[in-house]
Amino acid sequence: MNPHRFCVAPMLDLTDRHCRHFHRQLSRRARLYTEMVSTGALLHGPRERLLRFDETQHPVVLQLGGSEPRALAQAARFGERAGYDEVNLNCGCPSERVQRGAFGACLMAEPALVAECVRAMRDAVSIPVTVKHRIGLDRVEDYGFVRDFVGTVAQAGCEVFVVHARNAWLAGLSPRENRTVPPLRYGTVVDLKRDFPALTIVLNGGLRDHDAALAHLARLDGVMMGREACENPWILAEVDGRYFGEAAPHANRDEVVEAMRRYLLREVAAGEPARAVLRPMLGLFNGLPGARGWRRALSAPALLAAEGPRTLDRALQAMRAAGGGRRARTAELQ
Ligand SMILES: Cc1cc2nc3c(=O)[nH]c(=O)nc-3n(C[C@H](O)[C@H](O)[C@H](O)COP(=O)(O)O)c2cc1C
Repeated sequence: MNPHRFCVAPMLDLTDRHCRHFHRQLSRRARLYTEMVSTGALLHGPRERLLRFDETQHPVVLQLGGSEPRALAQAARFGERAGYDEVNLNCGCPSERVQRGAFGACLMAEPALVAECVRAMRDAVSIPVTVKHRIGLDRVEDYGFVRDFVGTVAQAGCEVFVVHARNAWLAGLSPRENRTVPPLRYGTVVDLKRDFPALTIVLNGGLRDHDAALAHLARLDGVMMGREACENPWILAEVDGRYFGEAAPHANRDEVVEAMRRYLLREVAAGEPARAVLRPMLGLFNGLPGARGWRRALSAPALLAAEGPRTLDRALQAMRAAGGGRRARTAELQ
């Protein structure tokens, strides 16, 4: 089955290795993307720390930010050597900092340069090189623009395009606003698939539930979920069943918490702050009684400082005191 059928989006300050480890407890098959790592950080910064992940995380994709073909080729090589399954080039980030570096969404205005970058990376590695992009820049809603971008980049050998189905407005909006204000236009993504049937086209943007996401798979190759996967991570527990016809790795939230407890102890023993490991789990019980107690206990700095890994037990106690644990298990068995 197409390995891009369900992906979890790259998200800066969210999808770090702890978050991906947690997501992997919820789905074996979701394709997990790293936060964007700039070529500068990778070539001149703490490379080993930036690339580290554990073997259980596959399939995992390294997302790169950059616009200089040689630097991207070298960064891709480091990624392949570290064991990543794919390298993805960010052509969708609208932040001013990224624009100053002349990469991210502003690269959409330079398809020939993106093609050159893709070619350089493909020459350097044998894992797939893919691109994540928007459907336009600023207020220009001209389909020809994104069609020509995809066509040019595909000629360089890129076969997978992850399309965030809104324009990036480069001036006047914050990155956060750029994820809500420019309208979603899913039809444009379907048009791309119609014009490039041989390419793998993955839809991203605004997907909040599986029914809506699966409906897109009638016409597209894959879906990518971002914010919902982080805010309500339990949604990932349905991915293996609904998209791949396989059993989820754990039957209920309690099992996931136990798996994370083992990981937490190992990571804290290796010097990681408990807070960093626990943060992705804040939304695990969302929608259930006791979710607030869980979230509050896991994110209380004083408690974390005093209790370290035992914070997990305190959070479970806080949730169960509100009747959450018992009802959560019952709900999952139904
Ligand atoms: C906090 C945050 C950080 C993000 N960082 C990145 C990033 O590093 N690279 C990237 O390509 N997109 C990034 N995005 C955009 C997401 O990958 C995704 O395209 C966007 O959130 C739309 O999908 P969603 O509606 O499912 O969240 C980020 C989004 C959020 C919310």
